[in-house]
Amino acid sequence: MSPEALRQQLEYYRDLGIKQIYRRMPIPTDIELPSLVPAGDTLELIRADIGDCTRCRLCKGRNKIVFGDGNPNARLAFVGEGPGADEDEQGLPFVGRAGQLLTQMIEGTSAKEGIPLKRADVYICNVVKCRPPENRTPEPDEMEMCGQFLFRQLSAIKPKAICALGSTAAKAILGGKDGVTKLRGKWHKWNDIPLMVTYHPSYLLRPYNQNAKRESWEDLKKVLHFVYD
Ligand code: URA
Repeated sequence: MSPEALRQQLEYYRDLGIKQIYRRMPIPTDIELPSLVPAGDTLELIRADIGDCTRCRLCKGRNKIVFGDGNPNARLAFVGEGPGADEDEQGLPFVGRAGQLLTQMIEGTSAKEGIPLKRADVYICNVVKCRPPENRTPEPDEMEMCGQFLFRQLSAIKPKAICALGSTAAKAILGGKDGVTKLRGKWHKWNDIPLMVTYHPSYLLRPYNQNAKRESWEDLKKVLHFVYD
């Protein structure tokens, strides 16, 4: 990409309200990039930048933007894929069946491990903030656009660890092609923050996934001890 084309692309992102680009794009060293990092970024500023978003097609079918929920100073952040029907209706992440399981996993596992932790102590959000039609997987361009806000959220919170729930969140954050089976159970990094990948609670709700359930409890235990010991 020529320096001029790159400059134009970055200006385009900035016009959309995206002030920080985290993509691993090859940046020529001989051009001076415009500053895109908002100083003193906060969740409130990020939410205000999202506004009544129409940046991608997902806006057409949504009822509510599902920004995120929980402690803005959380030491642990969970990232899912995108809102489902219940989340779209309430404007809150993980409030449907998968959300109830996530709450149970967070609170039940921490209680068993002797860690006093409630769901409200962590931060929970998704890669895309609007419900994809029929709960389909978000398209790459939708994740690219909305991912900018996710990365700003994670940068503003600065948790001690991130837990990516499922392949979509893992790919969106880590930028690779590997899915949950390959990535889970091991520590990865996003911008120097340790990141654990585990199964999405919706997957665990399906029958015959006993093994995955056991594995995700193991993953979560690792995360909880790392963050709260
Ligand atoms: N699935 C997700 O990935 N996120 C939600 O908020 C709910 C279900």
